[in-house]
Amino acid sequence: MKKLLVALALMLLACSVAAAQTPTVVETGAGISVIPAAQWAETYPDVYASYMKNEENSAIIDHVEEYPMIATVYEGMAFNKYYGSARGHYYTVQDVTSTGRPHKLANCFTCKTADFTVKVNNEGVSAYTIPFEDMMAEVNESVTCYNCHANTGKDLVVTHTYLSDAMGADLTNVKAETLACAQCHVEYYFDPETKATTLPYSSLETMNPDDIYAFFAETSFTDYTNPRTGVAQIKVQHPEFETFMGEGSVHKSQFSCADCHMAKETNADGVTYTSHEWVSPLKSETIKATCAACHADLDGFVKGIQAHAEERTIAIGTKLETLTNTLADMVASGKYTDEDLAQIRELNRKGQFYWDFVFVENSEGAHNSKLTEECLDKAEELIDQALELTKA
Ligand code: HEC
Ligand code: HEC
Ligand code: HEC
Ligand code: HEC
Repeated sequence: MKKLLVALALMLLACSVAAAQTPTVVETGAGISVIPAAQWAETYPDVYASYMKNEENSAIIDHVEEYPMIATVYEGMAFNKYYGSARGHYYTVQDVTSTGRPHKLANCFTCKTADFTVKVNNEGVSAYTIPFEDMMAEVNESVTCYNCHANTGKDLVVTHTYLSDAMGADLTNVKAETLACAQCHVEYYFDPETKATTLPYSSLETMNPDDIYAFFAETSFTDYTNPRTGVAQIKVQHPEFETFMGEGSVHKSQFSCADCHMAKETNADGVTYTSHEWVSPLKSETIKATCAACHADLDGFVKGIQAHAEERTIAIGTKLETLTNTLADMVASGKYTDEDLAQIRELNRKGQFYWDFVFVENSEGAHNSKLTEECLDKAEELIDQALELTKA
C-alpha cells in the first residue's frame, strides 16, 4: 500500500513540473573569452544579486577535526592534514589556492573557475598540464555564468566537455538543469597520461559505484598509496550527480538539481526569476513551500535520513581506521610477503572506495538513501572480511 501511494504521489508530481531545456554542448576551439558576471548585472539584476549572495555561504569546517579517522584513512595524500568542508561558489578559487595542499597543475582549477574552463575549450587537453601558478595569473573569477550558460547569459550549455564525453548518447536523457551541476558535482579522476579531468564511466548505465570500481580495477588506477600499508587507494570526490541519478533515487525523474537548490523567487515588481544562490533546500522557505504538500516536515525527514547515514559512516570509518593500523603493524613486523597481504590490501582498497563514495557525497544520504545504505553495507562487509583475515 505504501509503495502504491508513493507511486501515485510521484506520478502527480511528474505532471506538475515545468518543461526542461534541451541540453546543448559548447563549441570548442573557438578562441572565446569569458564575459564576466558583472557584465550581466544590468541585463539580469535579480539573478546577479542572488548570485552575489553566495558570498554569505562562507562557513568552513575542517573535516580532519570533525572526523579524526581520516588522518589515518587518507594517509599518503594531503587531505589527511587539512580537508575543509564545501562552502559557496564564491569561494572556489580562494579555497583551492589556500588549502595547505600543494597543487602542481592547472587541472586543479577544473571545477573552480570559468577562466580555466574556457582555456580548455580554446586550447584542448594541453591546458590541463599548465603549471598551477601560471594559470593562477589568468584567473579573474570563481564559478560564473560562463560555466553553465557559455556566453549566452541564460541558455543552459555544457561547457565542461568531459561530462558530455562521459554521457555519450545519454546526454539528452538528463535534464539540462541537472547537467549544469554535474559539470562539477561528480566523481572524476585525472588521466594518468594527459592529466585531463575525466569521468570514470561512459553512459548512465555504467554510472554507478560497482561499475566505477570495476573501471578503476581494470585500469589499476590509483590516486595515492598509503605509505604504511602499501594499499593503492582511490580518492572519491563529491559524487552528487552519480548518487542522485543512481538506482533507488526517489526524485530523479521528476526533479533536477536546480528544482531543489535554486528557488523561483518573485521580485518587488512581481516578476519571477531563478535564484542563483545555491543552498540547501532546508535553508530556503520558497523551495520548502514546493515540497510541503508531500513533506510536511522536510527538515525532520531529511535529518532522520542523514543521522542514520552519518552514524554508520562514522562507525565504518572507525573500523577502516582499525584495519589500516592493524595492516600497517603487519607490514612493519616484516613477517608477511606481499603475496600474503594481497587479499587484505584488495579488500581494504575496495572497502575504502565504497565508504568514501558516501563520506564525500555532500547530501549525507538525502539524495539517495537506498544507494547510500547499499554502499555502506558493501564497505562494512569488505572491511569486516579484511579484519577477519588479519586475525588468521
Ligand atoms: C552553476 C550553474 C549556473 C551558473 C554559474 C549560472 N547559472 Fe543561470 N541558470 C542556471 C540554471 C540551472 C538555470 C535554470 C533554472 C531553472 O529553470 O530551473 C539558470 C537560469 C538562468 C536564467 C533564466 C531566467 C531566470 O531567471 O530563470 C538567467 C537569465 C540566468 N540563469 C543568468 C545567469 C547569470 C547572469 C549568471 C552569472 C551571474 C548565471 N546565470 C550563472 C545555472 C547557472
Ligand atoms: C564549475 C564548477 C561547479 C558547478 C558547475 C557547480 N558547482 Fe556547486 N560547487 C562547486 C565547488 C568547487 C564547491 C565547493 C566550494 C568551496 O568549498 O570552495 C561547490 C559548492 C556548492 C554548494 C555549497 C555546499 C556547501 O556545503 O555549502 C552547493 C549547494 C552547490 N555547490 C550546488 C550546486 C548546484 C545546484 C549546481 C548546479 C546548478 C552547482 N553547484 C554547479 C563547483 C561547482
Ligand atoms: C529532491 C531534492 C534534491 C535534488 C533533486 C537534489 N538535491 Fe542536493 N540536496 C538535497 C537535500 C535535502 C540536501 C541536504 C541538505 C542539508 O543537509 O541541509 C542536499 C544537499 C546537497 C549539497 C550540500 C549542500 C549543503 O549545504 O550542505 C550539494 C552540494 C547538493 N545537494 C548538490 C546537488 C546536485 C549537484 C544535484 C543534482 C545532481 C542535487 N543536489 C539534487 C536535495 C536535493
Ligand atoms: C508529490 C509528492 C512529493 C513532492 C512534491 C516532493 N516529494 Fe520528496 N519524496 C516523496 C516521496 C513519496 C518520497 C519517498 C518517501 C519514503 O521513502 O518514505 C520522497 C523522498 C524524498 C527524499 C528522500 C530520498 C531518499 O532517497 O530517501 C528527499 C530528500 C526529498 N523527498 C526531498 C524533496 C524536496 C526537497 C522536495 C521539494 C523540492 C520534495 N521532496 C517534493 C514525495 C514528494
